[in-house]
Amino acid sequence: MGYNVAIDGPAGAGKSTIAKLVAKEKGYIYVDTGAMYRALAVHFLEKGIAAEDTAGIIAAAREAEVSIRYEEGVQQVYLNGENISSRLRTEEVGNMASMTSPIPEVRERLLELQRSLARERDVIMDGRDIGTNILPDADVKVYLTASVETRAKRRYDELTEKGLACDYEEIAKDIRERDERDMNRETAPLRQAEDAVLVDSSDMTIPEVVETIVRLCR
Ligand code: DC
Repeated sequence: MGYNVAIDGPAGAGKSTIAKLVAKEKGYIYVDTGAMYRALAVHFLEKGIAAEDTAGIIAAAREAEVSIRYEEGVQQVYLNGENISSRLRTEEVGNMASMTSPIPEVRERLLELQRSLARERDVIMDGRDIGTNILPDADVKVYLTASVETRAKRRYDELTEKGLACDYEEIAKDIRERDERDMNRETAPLRQAEDAVLVDSSDMTIPEVVETIVRLCR
């Protein structure tokens, strides 16, 4: 069994930024489980299946083979043998992942992949149900959150910096909707595990959050 650190929290809380930095400092592998749901979403979009077509999504999930490799420590996601890592971070893919990840058969498809990575390696794994469901015996559990306003502002700044036009209110609305879906779904809803440490990063810098989590690790 590897040493396992679980980080859960809502969209835009900074989980991946923080997890990557902790991984680097502690020599863990960073496992981004959202990317796995996004990989399945790419498959559904490629096949032209609507998120509402549950039977179609379940059938398509069955034939999708998602696997993970690490190249120079960076997670690469393969869908049916093809590296699709560069196609995961669009709003379209994120929304499809958010709408299809509540389906139990979709989650089931990724469960063993996530658990086997944690068995074999020292990992910091981020997602929505890592501490509550995937790795209930994780050595460290963190629930990383921030206010909707902070998360929307961070996303707004990130997009503006890239020269992309965007609307703050639109982003905040999108975040609220995603929270609502992630927290109120029947299967594996986003919630803080009883034994997770709550870290609210609204008024913290990135190094402060990293330091807080590193201190919890052995
Ligand atoms: O973290 P992210 O934005 O890449 O995740 C995309 C979607 O996948 C998100 O809306 C919720 C879902 N997800 C999930 O249900 N369980 C996880 N462990 C990770 C992500």
